Amino acid sequence: MNIEFAERMSALGTESAFEVMARAKGLEAQGRSIIHLEIGEPDFPTPPFITQAAVRALHEGYTHYTPAAGLMVAREAVANYVSQTRGIKVQPEHVVMVPGSKNILLFALLSLVNPGDEIIYPDPGYPIYESLARFVGAKLRPIRLREENDFRFDLDEFWSLVNSRTRLVILNSPHNPCGSVLERSDIQAIAEAVMDTKAFVLSDEIYSRLLYDGAHYSIAAVPGMQERTIIMDGLSKAYAMTGWRLGFGVMNTQLAARMAQLMVNSNSCSAAFSQMAAIAALTGPQDSVTKMVSEFRTRRQLIVDKLNKIKGISCRMPKGAFYVFPNVSAINGDVKCMANRLLEEYGLACLPGTAFGEGGQGYLRFSYANSQENILEGMNRLRHAMAEHLSSAMA
Ligand SMILES: Cc1ncc(COP(=O)(O)O)c(C=O)c1O
Repeated sequence: MNIEFAERMSALGTESAFEVMARAKGLEAQGRSIIHLEIGEPDFPTPPFITQAAVRALHEGYTHYTPAAGLMVAREAVANYVSQTRGIKVQPEHVVMVPGSKNILLFALLSLVNPGDEIIYPDPGYPIYESLARFVGAKLRPIRLREENDFRFDLDEFWSLVNSRTRLVILNSPHNPCGSVLERSDIQAIAEAVMDTKAFVLSDEIYSRLLYDGAHYSIAAVPGMQERTIIMDGLSKAYAMTGWRLGFGVMNTQLAARMAQLMVNSNSCSAAFSQMAAIAALTGPQDSVTKMVSEFRTRRQLIVDKLNKIKGISCRMPKGAFYVFPNVSAINGDVKCMANRLLEEYGLACLPGTAFGEGGQGYLRFSYANSQENILEGMNRLRHAMAEHLSSAMA
């Protein structure tokens, strides 16, 4: 049967990390050795005290629906956590718990954006921004992040993009895929540019705990910005809880009520025991996060050093998250084709920069959320690939 899908489906994109992972796992199932540097999730287990809190919650009967925006105790824990980590005053009424922070992005677009409204978002950037912006019929206004500008916003370009039709500005710092971090002065300038417009800022801070120097600074902390900022965050990355599907948004109470309504219409609520686990994670000892970040720091150094020793590749030191975005533009040709060959011929799974937008041409993305041993093996495979024939075959 040839199904005639609704027109809107043709606008929807995807996150190719999931597709590459599925292909890589398929090759593994055929007996191939694969080094997985494609997917963005910590390779550590969820800290045991968090899992224990969830098991306790299950035994205590947290196996039913919760209020759509989340259990009040969980919203309180998030409000305290965000107040402390961002230096702002957050009440539980500002918080909406969702099954994965991605939902906050979808709900923000559904609540605020009419077809034709403009959305500014980073390119390269997390592909779901563009996919969902297209899905709701927004006018796309990507802002190019350039290596020579440390993959931060060019503020002059940003000012030129903001106008009376701008409805949403998406920030992501620390950034996927570049590992870049917006400086405090960048954030202040961005706030100044949108302050007197009708634009909201969606600040995707999912990597805010994965920062290697300095402290995280949220645009919500700029005086006057909290009520027009939606902080998108969650448990996935900082606490190695990607499979628990729990994220949250912090926003103006009017918008929080709309998001709760969208929750009623879609998921009903987030899983009760995941919310109880989130309380344990956010209020319990934080040494597992510190240890994880310290290990990521070591791996970051390792992978950057190895990449920079490979002929034809240069790589900046990322400041946050767990990704490197090496420049491979010395090799002529399409990076998608290069990433395919690395997987098929060398058993190295990574993503082409173009999976994150046009601005990713000439780059590859590697996740270093894998053991040092696997990173070394992955870099060996890459070195071989480059030396053997990639450079000539791609030329
Ligand atoms: C920039 C960015 N935002 C959001 C997410 C989604 O995270 P969650 O697991 O909370 O849905 C990811 C996951 O890779 C991400 O890289």
